[in-house]
Amino acid sequence: MRGSVFTNFQEMVEAQFGMACWETLLANCDLPSGGIYTASENYDDQEILSLVVALSDETNIPVNQLVEAFGRYLYKGLMHSLPPSMRDYPDLWTLLEAVDSVIHVEVHKLYPDAVTPKLIVQEKFDTGVKLYYQSPRKMCLLAIGLVHQAAESFGMSVSITHECCMHEGADHCLLLVEQEQVKQD
Ligand code: HEM
Repeated sequence: MRGSVFTNFQEMVEAQFGMACWETLLANCDLPSGGIYTASENYDDQEILSLVVALSDETNIPVNQLVEAFGRYLYKGLMHSLPPSMRDYPDLWTLLEAVDSVIHVEVHKLYPDAVTPKLIVQEKFDTGVKLYYQSPRKMCLLAIGLVHQAAESFGMSVSITHECCMHEGADHCLLLVEQEQVKQD
């Protein structure tokens, strides 16, 4: 996993739970890197999993909830790393279509050894899209957090339904992303 993911994770932990919490995680995890991350380097996927499990033990927040919350946090950091010309999309649906065909392609140009998921807009509806997610990392919850934050950046709120999931034996996940209607009084 790319070091920028780890540096964003460290930032989130320090901002939301304090520096001491990050130090405790490092002390409780046996990390080959020693917990020193450089944004452009690559680190073992197992390290991020160990850190999230340790954070869950420390905070009593379930792992799944932490991964999704981290996806929300990570969105801004990832977006900022793109050249300005690649950050501008008219709406959430256009951005979601660009993730696989433009954004992650750019990531692979910069880092040929990057591992990004297959993330395809499989169907479009008036009120949303169906996203196909496939990755050996099975980080669909991270994708869900990223999509929620992307929606928020357009001033929208979405509901996301996991119609099938790699964690339940499927070979891909299907995520139904629908715009939430603003309640009228
Ligand atoms: C809604 C928008 C996005 C979604 C849903 C998304 C989804 C994901 C997911 C789920 C992963 C984890 C790896 C995996 O599942 O295999 C990932 C990795 C990554 N994404 Fe995206 N992404 C989004 C936007 C972006 C943006 C804006 C960037 C900007 C550069 C970006 C760059 C990366 C990078 C660098 C990685 C790590 C690659 C590695 O570790 O080798 N993503 N993305």
